[in-house]
Amino acid sequence: METLKHKKILLGITGGIAAYKSADLCRQLKTAGADVQVVLTTAAAEFITPLTMQALSGNPVHQHLLNPEAEAGMGHIELAKWADRVIIAPASADIIARLAAGMANDLLTTLCLATEAPIALAPAMNQAMWRDPRTQDNCARLESLGMTIWGPGVGDQACGDSGPGRMLEATELAQLIAATFDKGRLCGKKITITAGPTREAIDPVRYISNHSSGKMGYALAQAAVDAGAEVTLVSGPVNLPAPRGVDLRRCDSADAMLAACLAGVNECDIFIAAAAVADYRVADVANQKIKKSADKLTLELIRNPDILATVAAHPQRPFCVGFAAETEQVTKHARDKLQRKGLNLIIANDVSQPDIGFNSDDNAVTLIDQQGDLALGPAPKQQLARQLIDAIAQRYENNAS
Ligand code: C5P
Repeated sequence: METLKHKKILLGITGGIAAYKSADLCRQLKTAGADVQVVLTTAAAEFITPLTMQALSGNPVHQHLLNPEAEAGMGHIELAKWADRVIIAPASADIIARLAAGMANDLLTTLCLATEAPIALAPAMNQAMWRDPRTQDNCARLESLGMTIWGPGVGDQACGDSGPGRMLEATELAQLIAATFDKGRLCGKKITITAGPTREAIDPVRYISNHSSGKMGYALAQAAVDAGAEVTLVSGPVNLPAPRGVDLRRCDSADAMLAACLAGVNECDIFIAAAAVADYRVADVANQKIKKSADKLTLELIRNPDILATVAAHPQRPFCVGFAAETEQVTKHARDKLQRKGLNLIIANDVSQPDIGFNSDDNAVTLIDQQGDLALGPAPKQQLARQLIDAIAQRYENNAS
């Protein structure tokens, strides 16, 4: 619990009988040296008083979004930025649904939308409400957005039922919160990740590109940051927010992406190429917009540099990880690529399957290296990214020892 010292914990409490356990959780966090700010929803205040939580946290309790007095003190955006972690305990079915829908209709939901801090929820509700497919779908949605669900425990419930839906005990939750501050296995390591498509100019207004969404690379970058790494994300044009805590370098063409990757190659420990780099670019990019006149237009294309192979051939090469998107003989083609590009590890995915891979939220992959094959997924890309980063870290450690 040493890791909780001076950490800023925003404790959100929603309406449920388990709210009484949150008083103890708050006390345990304070005893471990954390600074705690409490947010109560309207329903939570029916179960536990603001005065109790103020006395235990040593800070005024936050309850209302549109309160001029509170905004003059620590306003809601300031509070969202202040937090190192947001913990919602107990998390009712209602808050889970509202967060899954992206609502911002009270202080707690607004804070959760505004914060960049990791959010964890400890659900507590009647077993039938927990089992309801809508609650399950909402939880899956929150996890795919990178939030963590702790519990619920199984046992007797206040309503007389028995089953899943009990909030975890305060001691267990305090330990789980503390563990999120433990230095990750990639602490001190520098990782460069490429993501998204590249754009190859035809003229000042047109380009050649592809449908890569960048989701896998961005999820990997977030998982690597969460594992303690210092991450440079070299990204082609995508419609995704910058992952928390990464050094984001935006670029357009394969040439620009290569330059950005080579700039830090001497210091890089692990290189992960998740970008869908255009294989060809236009030989002579027109200075002016090409006018339509002839019925036929021929563009001469030339090969782009292979960014991954170039980094892998560098004298101070990092541990190199590539992706192989294949439609047939997936592992065979991936293994060939592993050899040809001189990689340590390749992550193969079968893009002939409609629900996974390119431009989708889920993915399923096979890790291939000298040790053999390891299948992961299908799973949401965020979840898969955490598993991949763990597997990459393990192979990197084996390689270094
Ligand atoms: O050869 P192919 O495009 O299938 O190889 C895929 C792997 O190589 C991916 O990791 C991709 O990011 C990387 N790559 C690259 N530069 C290229 C082409 C592919 O870094 N020009």
